[in-house]
Amino acid sequence: MTRPDQTYLDTLLLYYEEEIEGEAYFAELARIFSAPEQSKRLTLLAEVERHAAQGVAPLIARYGLTPRSDAILTQSGHGQAQRAPATWASLLDEMNRTYPGYLAAFEALEAIGPAEDQARLRFLTQHEVAALDYLALENEGVADSYAPLERYLASAPAPA
Ligand SMILES: [Fe+2]
Repeated sequence: MTRPDQTYLDTLLLYYEEEIEGEAYFAELARIFSAPEQSKRLTLLAEVERHAAQGVAPLIARYGLTPRSDAILTQSGHGQAQRAPATWASLLDEMNRTYPGYLAAFEALEAIGPAEDQARLRFLTQHEVAALDYLALENEGVADSYAPLERYLASAPAPA
């Protein structure tokens, strides 16, 4: 195995860390938005973030990368949640504005990743696809808008 270039490794580590932060972010939002339907969706989003991170964790180990500690990342995620939009509508607005850019970023990471990492990078990208699918249904007011999140949680990276 030749070691991939540093840009790839730095980005992989950053995105892994952002999923850990994201899990804490959504978990804290689930506490803030305590209405059952909202809390349920935010809890599923937190679980999706963790599932995505677990999917790429073997790549972090493969390259001997050292993430910032869970404690630091969790604290950061909680802080971001405290500064998040305060109403459900404005939170959805923010998701609608930002999620397409995240998808493009994950696809760009796939594009520079080595062949043996592709299945796990694809799995990382798929969590953002699931989040966007959820958002589209949520925007339409579909009752079980969270179904794409549950499907992602039931999925695993394809064998490399
Ligand atoms: Fe994420």
